[in-house]
Amino acid sequence: MASTNDELARGSDILRSAQAEVMADIDRLFDRLLPVPHDPRAPLYEAMRYAAIAGGKRLRPLLVCAAGNLFHVDRSASLRVGAAVEAMHVYSLIHDDLPCMDDDDLRRGKPTVHKAFDEATAVLAGDSLHALAFEWLCDPATSTDPFVRGELCCELARAAGPAGMAGGQMMDLAAETSNFDLPTVTRLQQLKTGALIAFSVEAGAILARIPPEGRTALRAYARDIGLAFQIADDIMDVEGDEALAGKALHKDAAAGKGTFVTLMGLERAREQATALVDQAIGHLASFGDEAALLRAIARYVVERDR
Ligand code: IPE
Ligand code: IPE
Ligand code: MG
Ligand code: MG
Ligand code: MG
Repeated sequence: MASTNDELARGSDILRSAQAEVMADIDRLFDRLLPVPHDPRAPLYEAMRYAAIAGGKRLRPLLVCAAGNLFHVDRSASLRVGAAVEAMHVYSLIHDDLPCMDDDDLRRGKPTVHKAFDEATAVLAGDSLHALAFEWLCDPATSTDPFVRGELCCELARAAGPAGMAGGQMMDLAAETSNFDLPTVTRLQQLKTGALIAFSVEAGAILARIPPEGRTALRAYARDIGLAFQIADDIMDVEGDEALAGKALHKDAAAGKGTFVTLMGLERAREQATALVDQAIGHLASFGDEAALLRAIARYVVERDR
């Protein structure tokens, strides 16, 4: 179903204000959750704060809040889960930028953690954010229901581990030396990027105690926007603006990496991303106006310039 210009404009207003609120709330929460101790661990906390506070689009916490809103989940619970998944994401970025991986000097418009601190501190800051994500989820402040806390931990572990982000990163390294076909690149991206995005959406339903069989539409939505998001990242790597993106671009082709763009070409990659967004929005057909933010996020993942 085509959207009218009025609907699109309203969607982008809803997105702008929700994203600004989540950005401010997540910064406040990280500030509270990461106090710097007066002991020799101080640089570790400084490095975590440097990487986690004031940066990025906060797409994953925004998705937790937007999905939670469908089911009237308490905002403070959604934000705690949002902080946990964002911590996991930030850890993945710190390690992704290390010399042994992508060897990048710039992230979110400032020097990468291993440049601003040192490599050992960057590794430990990533390790610590990874562990803290689970500690925050296990805290009764996230949910008083131990089954909810257990499911959140289990799903985040799956999304971050070898069957999720870390496994996708391994395939991504292999993509530099193998000629992966489209189904293999699609699987790579679903693991590398899609898994944490899917967790973010599903977490809203888990917090609301919606059983797995009631999450089918949301899962399908998440799968489609996750893939569209990564296609947009690959397109940005080719034709994006480094100053806006806040990171080095033109790296995939230089590394000889198989991506959606190398396999499909820019034009078809763009068409595919747009088709996935339409399909994602289609999966929300059974929801009313309460899903307006999720629909706006779906459009944003491909229209963004950073
Ligand atoms: C960048 O993620 C790494 C990928 C998974 C492609 P984002 O584009 O969400 O980065 P931030 O959080 O906005 O910095
Ligand atoms: C990194 O993918 C994804 C994760 C950190 C899991 P990329 O290497 O493509 O991300 P950017 O382009 O550096 O943000
Ligand atoms: Mg990488
Ligand atoms: Mg990278
Ligand atoms: Mg990239």
